[in-house]
Amino acid sequence: MSVGYGPSAAAQLAAGRPVAGDDLRAAYANAADVAEGKRVADASCAGCHGANGIGSIKDVPHLAGQRPGYLYLELRAYQSGARGDSTMGAVVRNLNDNALVKAAAYYASLDPAQPSSTSGARPAPPQVDPTQAGKAAAAACSGCHGDAGISKTPGTPSLAGLDPKYLVAAMKAYKSGQRKNDVMKSMISTVADADLSNIALYYALQKPGVAQTPAAGEQAAGKAAAAACAGCHGDKGVSGNPLIPSLAGQDAQYVAAALRSYKDGARSDETMKGIAASLGEGAVKNLAAFYVNQQPQPTNVRKPLSTVEWAQRCDRCHGVNGNSTDPRLPALAAQRVEYLEKTLHAYRTGERKSPQMAAMSEVLTEADVENLAAYYARQKARAVVYIALPAK
Ligand code: HEC
Ligand code: HEC
Ligand code: HEC
Ligand code: HEC
Repeated sequence: MSVGYGPSAAAQLAAGRPVAGDDLRAAYANAADVAEGKRVADASCAGCHGANGIGSIKDVPHLAGQRPGYLYLELRAYQSGARGDSTMGAVVRNLNDNALVKAAAYYASLDPAQPSSTSGARPAPPQVDPTQAGKAAAAACSGCHGDAGISKTPGTPSLAGLDPKYLVAAMKAYKSGQRKNDVMKSMISTVADADLSNIALYYALQKPGVAQTPAAGEQAAGKAAAAACAGCHGDKGVSGNPLIPSLAGQDAQYVAAALRSYKDGARSDETMKGIAASLGEGAVKNLAAFYVNQQPQPTNVRKPLSTVEWAQRCDRCHGVNGNSTDPRLPALAAQRVEYLEKTLHAYRTGERKSPQMAAMSEVLTEADVENLAAYYARQKARAVVYIALPAK
């Protein structure tokens, strides 16, 4: 018998891996090879990976039904040290290549584990849309900051399109009292810490617009003075640095007030203090008039993906619901949840090396890792399909 994989078997994914010409031998093993693999497994592997490749030890992955080429490649990686794990390194040290091929074929031939609470499969947590949560938490803010964060109140800043990192830092500074403003301190003190990032995301994703408020200064004179600011705040007040606020379209009275408060020390920031110190009252007004008339630009922050949206991306390689159809790529469905979590962390830190997984895991948040591990642990696992081949 042999595994029924088509010839298309993901050549595209072989890239970046130490692929041996014969890495699919386990996929084309016959019944005698599988029986031999079972002897190896019963003698050397079952103690940890379970009698049928379904383990019950935390951090030890299920192997039953895992894809044959993948199993073999991982065993080779433990043997060469490319995948560092002292337990598995010691186990495979004295096994020859044939034993690895056969053990891989045996485990691939078994029926996979199914989601169960012992594998840590948890029910799906309620998915909160962070922008919706942010919008709800910002309901109390719109009276001053405008409905979608574009100010209609002179002296109050627009928040739409500001970078979320800057917004979070500003809110925390009011909360801690490091940035002094009684109104904002009392407003922010009612907001739960978890909501700060949701509010920031909500405002960051709103389409920015020019504040609907008057400006007293001279735009042309402001433009000349703003040359000194462009290095940090951007040519036309659109900042490329998350911790430096954009000024384009910002309410003029607020910009002027901020510059005065850096100057008199009411708002402390070492960088802006020195810059504001040299500005006279005329320059302050002119700069404010210049900036409010610049066109603000949306941030390049994107809405974070939900777990299901992430999983669709993972499934492009790992198969529908984590049931890989590529013999060299691991199935994830019904795998033990702590093992999946541990493994995703290992890719993130670089402890386990894989160019594809480094790129994929780098952009995940801690919550994404937990949710994806739980998601895959809950998926129904499908066995590898074996088709009998004529005897050799
Ligand atoms: C002493 C316990 C122990 C024994 C015995 C053992 N393993 Fe493992 N195995 C582990 C642990 C722990 C891991 C996870 C290591 C890691 O995170 O890299 C693992 C991981 C693996 C993996 C990687 C699975 C994946 O999804 O990436 C394979 C393949 C594997 N073992 C095969 C075997 C085979 C074949 C044998 C017998 C020849 C064996 N193991 C014996 C503990 C054991
Ligand atoms: C009563 C009017 C009022 C309300 C309500 C209000 N704000 Fe403010 N907000 C202000 C004013 C005025 C400032 C400027 C304070 C200063 O000079 O530091 C400000 C500043 C800010 C800033 C700093 C912006 C920057 O460019 O540095 C953030 C962020 C902010 N508010 C968020 C919020 C959030 C979130 C809420 C709702 C929970 C809220 N505000 C409710 C009046 C208000
Ligand atoms: C070296 C970099 C740098 C330069 C040059 C610079 N700024 Fe800033 N600016 C910052 C940083 C960083 C902040 C955020 C400080 C904070 O958190 O209070 C800031 C904040 C501000 C703010 C407050 C905006 C808000 O939303 O609260 C205003 C207004 C401002 N700058 C105006 C100017 C003007 C006008 C100039 C030129 C005359 C200038 N800056 C030059 C770095 C710079
Ligand atoms: C471009 C293809 C690709 C995509 C997309 C991808 N992976 Fe992987 N994944 C791989 C490859 C290749 C491996 C095997 C790497 C190795 O040998 O360590 C792997 C391994 C894994 C493993 C280890 C399995 C085991 O049994 O040890 C986990 C867990 C995993 N991926 C999760 C994910 C998650 C979650 C996503 C989506 C966020 C994802 N992958 C997206 C290609 C991909």
